[in-house]
Parts: sequence; structure tokens; C-alpha cells
Amino acid sequence: MHCRKMSPSDLESVLRIQNELAFQNWTLKQLESECSSPLSISLVLIINEQVLGYLFIQVIGDEAELLSIAIKSDYSRIGAGSFLWREGVSSLKEKNVRSVFLEVRENNITAQQFYKKHGFICCGLRKHYYSDGENALLFRFDF
Ligand SMILES: CC(C)(COP(=O)(O)OP(=O)(O)OC[C@H]1O[C@@H](n2cnc3c(N)ncnc32)[C@H](O)[C@@H]1OP(=O)(O)O)[C@@H](O)C(=O)NCCC(=O)NCCS
Repeated sequence: MHCRKMSPSDLESVLRIQNELAFQNWTLKQLESECSSPLSISLVLIINEQVLGYLFIQVIGDEAELLSIAIKSDYSRIGAGSFLWREGVSSLKEKNVRSVFLEVRENNITAQQFYKKHGFICCGLRKHYYSDGENALLFRFDF
């Protein structure tokens, strides 16, 4: 298992993983824009030469927002997401980021457990944040 910077040729795999997991609905254009943004840390996780996970973090000054992290479901719960997040942490440290924020659906207990395991704390609630009316929980991680 290893990680590397995402390239435009990875985006079809990224889109496939996103659509399989159905947790976000970014278009290919949105993915392209995020992947090429100078503010973005965009990484893919590779196992056996296949893209099986990805992460997008947007960095603004000493704060960052974790926009997405995803692992193909056949490879869940084997430590791949943790490996990917730790790579993200290394990049954030290089950029001297001090805090990371994220929003997560209130019913996405798996992701919440994942974030808590990695030291995030829940610091707020955004009512009806998503277009389907679901609430978002706001999480924060401080270096
Ligand atoms: C969240 C996600 C990235 C975790 O990836 P993963 O590779 O399965 O995570 P890991 O194997 O590194 O697990 C680390 C910890 O996360 C938590 N976790 C992972 N899967 C879990 C599950 N099904 N139920 C409860 N906790 C879970 C546990 O605390 C786990 O530690 P443990 O195995 O020691 O108990 C993955 O489940 C995923 O892609 N989910 C769909 C996309 C998504 O919702 N992303 C977040 C919103 S942007």
C-alpha cells in the first residue's frame, strides 16, 4: 500500500469510487478543479497498482478543510483510510497547518468513528446542512 499525489489520469477511478460509495456527488469537472487547485492536497491510495482510495484537503493559511476521504468498500477496515489520512497529516505539517475542520453527515457513524480515532473532536452542528435536509456535524483537529 502506498500513496501519491493525484494526477488527472486518476480522476476516472476517483469518480468510480465516489459513485460506488455514494457519499458525495462531485462531477468530473469539480474533481478536476480540486485536483488542480494550488490550495489542494489531493492524494490517491494505491494497492497492487490500483487506485483504491483518495483524499482531498483544502488549505487556506494555517487552517485546512478535509473535503473528502474515501476507500473502495472491498478494502474497508484494513487500515487503508488511516494510512491515507497519515499521509495527509505529513503534507499538512509541511505546510504548517494548525487546525483541520470537516463536516460529516449525522448518520455517517463509520466516518465519525474514523475521525474520532484520529483525534478529531465534534465541535458543532449545522442543522439541515445537506440538500436532503440532513444535519452535519462539524469536527475539528488541532496539531
Ligand atoms: C471513513 C473511511 C474512509 C474509513 O476508511 P477505512 O480504510 O475503512 O478505515 P480504517 O480501516 O483505517 O479504520 C480506522 C478506524 O475507523 C473506524 N471505522 C472504520 N470502519 C468502520 C466501521 N464500519 N464501523 C465503525 N467504525 C469504523 C474505526 O474506528 C477504525 O479503527 P479500528 O478498526 O481499530 O476499530 C471509509 O469507511 C469510507 O470510505 N467511507 C465512505 C466515504 C465516507 O463516508 N467518507 C467520509 C466522509 S467525507
